[in-house]
Amino acid sequence: MLAGKRILLGVTGSIAAYKAAVLVRLLVKAQAEVKVVMTPAAGDFITPLTLATLSKNPVLSGFTNGNSGQWNNHVELGLWADALVIAPASANTLAKMANGLCDNLLLATYLSARCKVFFAPAMDLDMWQHGSTQANINKLISYGNEMVSPEYGELASGLTGNGRMAEPEQIVSRLHSFFSAANRLAGKKALVTAGPTYEAIDPVRFIGNNSSGKMGFAIAEEFARQGAEVHLISGPTQLDLHIPNVKISRVKSADEMHRLAMRYFPETDIAVLSAAVADFKPATMATQKIKKTDTGLTIQLVKNPDIAADLGKIKKDGQYNVGFALETENEQANAEKKLLSKNFDLIVLNSLNDPGAGFGHDTNQVTLISRKHEPKKISLRGKKEIAAELVKIIIEDIHA
Ligand code: PMT
Repeated sequence: MLAGKRILLGVTGSIAAYKAAVLVRLLVKAQAEVKVVMTPAAGDFITPLTLATLSKNPVLSGFTNGNSGQWNNHVELGLWADALVIAPASANTLAKMANGLCDNLLLATYLSARCKVFFAPAMDLDMWQHGSTQANINKLISYGNEMVSPEYGELASGLTGNGRMAEPEQIVSRLHSFFSAANRLAGKKALVTAGPTYEAIDPVRFIGNNSSGKMGFAIAEEFARQGAEVHLISGPTQLDLHIPNVKISRVKSADEMHRLAMRYFPETDIAVLSAAVADFKPATMATQKIKKTDTGLTIQLVKNPDIAADLGKIKKDGQYNVGFALETENEQANAEKKLLSKNFDLIVLNSLNDPGAGFGHDTNQVTLISRKHEPKKISLRGKKEIAAELVKIIIEDIHA
């Protein structure tokens, strides 16, 4: 899958730079064409000669080539690559990437790249845990970059914890799935619900929730990347996707989402219901803004349609439905109940008790519970990574 692919490897100033040599070797062995760009600090940890010899290409570092006056064109480099992999990605480089700084060739190339960007952080435990590093990572993920998460283990400082760069084999395997995954869903139609629903109380107020839509949008993007034709039905969110095979229908209420989902479901192969649909809505919507009173206000609520359950009732052989369960207690038991009662093939459990999981975050931590397999836990990582893992499992299931 990597044969002929053009991989641009960015190496930054971290002790894990020594692993870049192995990474280049593995990529070249897989017949990828590899070019390396190093930040000035990377040269303290590994020589350009090592990486040039292994990659069979000159290694670039500055904006110009010594005294020759020759310009190392970052725009061309960015356009050349099928994937840009920044490994190791130091805390400093991540911070600069997150804030659009481009004071070296690698950063300028990153800003120019149109291809998928992977970054494999490497740093000490406390730097990794620092709020600013985590905020930078969330920002980078929200820009569509993919993180190859660091691992837990012994660090160069002698401390033990998270921050060790993922092994080169793991990075190569991610690239492998990225390139091989594409088009495995060609000809399939996917329906994804995302975001919250707003249930109007009066013309200015509503009942809603904190869903940002990030999880659902990431799933829609991943389906599209794999060749599916995607219909994304989204509640009110700030998000957008400009991908030719994703059609977005924007709705507000559960009733609207229900109507569209029921209309498109019969022609759907895979449905993923990640929206946080309000279970109840006001029995009536006041036509004028409700005035403040001294006696308080009672709003009568009635049940909304259960979109997932209704799709489950009309699901035919060959259709594959995935639900989400957002739980706060008895998580697994509740999710298992929903798997059966809504006729899902698989349910993704996320718990509000797990830091960084659920609403709003760029990250999530989930357990995939299916009818066929043992539950599979996926530790905290970017929602795009979770989406990639989820779609991979769906593909394996529908092709099994
Ligand atoms: O949008 P983000 O900020 O990225 O957050 C993602 C998320 C937390 C919203 C997402 O990961 C998630 O958990 N979505 C489901 C939230 C939820 O409403 O769960 P639930 O346990 O109440 O519902 C179970 C399933 O039934 C879900 O698939 C839900 O979409 C579906 N449902 C629920 C009620 C209803 N009336 N209609 C439905 O289709």
